[in-house]
Parts: sequence; C-alpha cells; structure tokens
Amino acid sequence: MSVATDLRPLDLLADFPAIPEGWAYLDTAATAQKPRPVIDAVTRGYAATYATVHRGVYQRSADMTYAYEAARARVAKFIGGKAEEVIFVRGATEAINLVAQCWAQEQLKPGDRILLSTLEHHANIVPWQMAAEKIGAAIDVIPLTEDHRIDLHAMEAMLTEAHKLVALGHVSNVLGSTLDAKRAVELAHAVGAKILLDGCQAVPRMPVDVAALGCDFYVFSGHKLYGPTGIGVLWGRYALLDAMPPWQVGGSMIDRVTFAKTTYAPPPGRFEAGTPHIVGVLGLHAACDYVDGIGLERIHAHETALVRQAREALSALNSVRLFGPEDSAGIVSFAVEGAHPHDIATILDEGQVAIRAGHHCAQPLMDALGVAATARASFGVYNSAADIDMLVRGVERVTRIFG
Ligand SMILES: Cc1ncc(COP(=O)(O)O)c(C=O)c1O
Repeated sequence: MSVATDLRPLDLLADFPAIPEGWAYLDTAATAQKPRPVIDAVTRGYAATYATVHRGVYQRSADMTYAYEAARARVAKFIGGKAEEVIFVRGATEAINLVAQCWAQEQLKPGDRILLSTLEHHANIVPWQMAAEKIGAAIDVIPLTEDHRIDLHAMEAMLTEAHKLVALGHVSNVLGSTLDAKRAVELAHAVGAKILLDGCQAVPRMPVDVAALGCDFYVFSGHKLYGPTGIGVLWGRYALLDAMPPWQVGGSMIDRVTFAKTTYAPPPGRFEAGTPHIVGVLGLHAACDYVDGIGLERIHAHETALVRQAREALSALNSVRLFGPEDSAGIVSFAVEGAHPHDIATILDEGQVAIRAGHHCAQPLMDALGVAATARASFGVYNSAADIDMLVRGVERVTRIFG
C-alpha cells in the first residue's frame, strides 16, 4: 500500500548530499543527515566569517558575536523561549548532566525523590542516579501503558510531595510514543515538583513551545534536528538558571576574577565556560531555519504517514512483532521471530537500508519489553514511501532466511 504524504520527498532528498540515490537512510533517531543550508552555514563559518566571540574588539569578532547571539535568539524562538534562557551545550546528554549537577544536587535533600519513566534514554537516567546517590535521594519509575506510553494515571498515583523533580522523554527514541507533556507538567507542578523534558526526538518531529507546555527545563541535541554534532540546547526558566551555580568554570563565564574571590556572569554566559562551538551554533541556526521552512506540522504529518505505512506492511508479516503505539512519532521498533536484531540490520544493509539495532541506550525499557534488543527504523524529512517499500522487502527477506 502506498500512503500519500503532502511532502515532495524527492525535492527534499536533493537537499541532502550525503544520501546517495537508492539508499534508504532510516536511522534519523540516532542522528539526522544534514541539508545543504546547514553544510553551507558551517562552511561559511569556517571559510569566510570565522573569528572568536564575546572577546574581540575588531569588526570580524563583533560580527561573529552578533551571529552567535542571533542564533541563540533563533533557537529561543524555535522552542518558544527567551534568548537568555537558552544555554548552548554539547548535546542533550550534557544538558541533563548540567541540570543534575547544578540544580538537583543543589536543591534536593536526603529523602527527596526523583520520578523517571521506564522508557527513558540512559542520558535521562544515569545523571539522576549519580545525583541521587550523592544527595541521598531516591528514584521512582513510572510504568508504561499496554500500548507503550508513559502511564500518566500511574504517574499521578505515584507523585508525592517528596518528589522534587520529574524527568521524562517527550518522545521515546525506541517506541516513538509521545508524552502528553502538558498533562505531565500539570501533574508534576501539582505536588510542587519541577519537570525536565527530554526533547531529543520531539523537537525534529513536532512543534514544541516550552512556554505553552509550562515545563521547567527542556533539552535537545542539534544533530537530531538536521544540525551539526557537538551542539545542543538546555532551555530553563530564567529564575531557576539564575539560582544555579556554574558547573564548568574558567574563561567567559565570569563577572570578575581576583585571587581573593571570583564572581560569575548571569545566565546564559555562566554556563558557557571557555570558547564555545561557534560554528556549530551557526549550523544550528541554519537547521532551525531549514526545519521551519518546511514546517513542523508538515514534517509531523509526513512522518506519521510513513509510520502508518511501515506498521501496516510490517504487521502483515506473521513473524514480525511491533513495539510502540500505532501513532508513534517517526519511529518504528520491531522484532522478527528467530532473528537477532543485529542480523536483521545486517541483511537490510545488504539491500541498502540503514536501520539501527540494539538496546538504543534504553536497557531498562528492553527489560520491560522482555527483549535484549530491537530493530528500529526511524524517519526524517528525506524519507519517502519508496524507503518503506525497501524496508519491508528487506524484512521479508529476513523472514525467509530465518524461516
Ligand atoms: C531521547 C534521547 N535522549 C537523549 C539522547 C542523547 O542525545 P546526545 O547523544 O545527542 O547527547 C538521545 C540520543 O539518542 C535520545 O534519543
């Protein structure tokens, strides 16, 4: 079955020089391929306009500082926040570590509790475990519903006034399940807890407005949003950021240094010690423009259609087990009876289809699903119905080989 989408995939495919014809790249949840405007912004940043930021008095540096801060404002607009609430970090992993160290370790006391869910990426588990251990706090885990969403009824029943922080994935990187983030925020705030949303898989797939969601912290990685690697975003409410101590210290993040005492710059500078990833920031600016140019509503509709096509075709194969809800956002995880996910991925690769196989940095979720690993196909703006056909043909071959 062919599913109509309102994107013209071939037009967009031409924007992605690293995707050769006949190759189905279905690993966008790991990292997205880069469109020409992002590549051009990075090239221009190094080849034409390069200079340091925030320090130079010469014109080139002043211009680069202007471009760097313009990117901050652009990212803020992209997610509905204010520029001074956007901190540039290496990626979501670093953003969550920053909040765990500078907010949780400062604000939580022994006996306090942190609430996570079964489907979290390790990046949204391990930093909290480490912080909890240092604080003497405890971690609780929200189970999933039968259709593999974070169970908000269970969350409501579990929350107590001892919970000071809730940290949840906005979209699961394995299941594609989308959190009702607004409801989760309401529930967390009803007991006085702060809430961090891991938006790695949501930001490239649907419109996100942190002000409308009402969350306290929101994190994502640029490379999953068609931007460069090594650049990501921590968004936080200004009052929370302003009350946080720095984490890495040195140049750029200070107000005044003497050997007797050092005072720190206000956010966001306080959290950006050292020379930042200047050109990465320019690339992220271009990525926001590129994605907004297509429109996140259209991208969401496009990926929803691809998911529907993939799920329908794969579920028609007897030996295939699908994970995640029917309406998963751009991601389809599956298993083939008798075949290890690594074998599935290898056979698909022989047919020019790139998928991911493994635990996807979500081992507690694998335990809950009762599997060691899954095969995962994840979609982006460059994918088309033809890629799904290639995926399904490859999986048919797997079922023939493993009988
Ligand atoms: C849901 C989710 N959270 C966090 C991360 C970590 O992102 P990064 O490795 O870019 O820091 C990922 C990346 O796979 C992810 O999918």
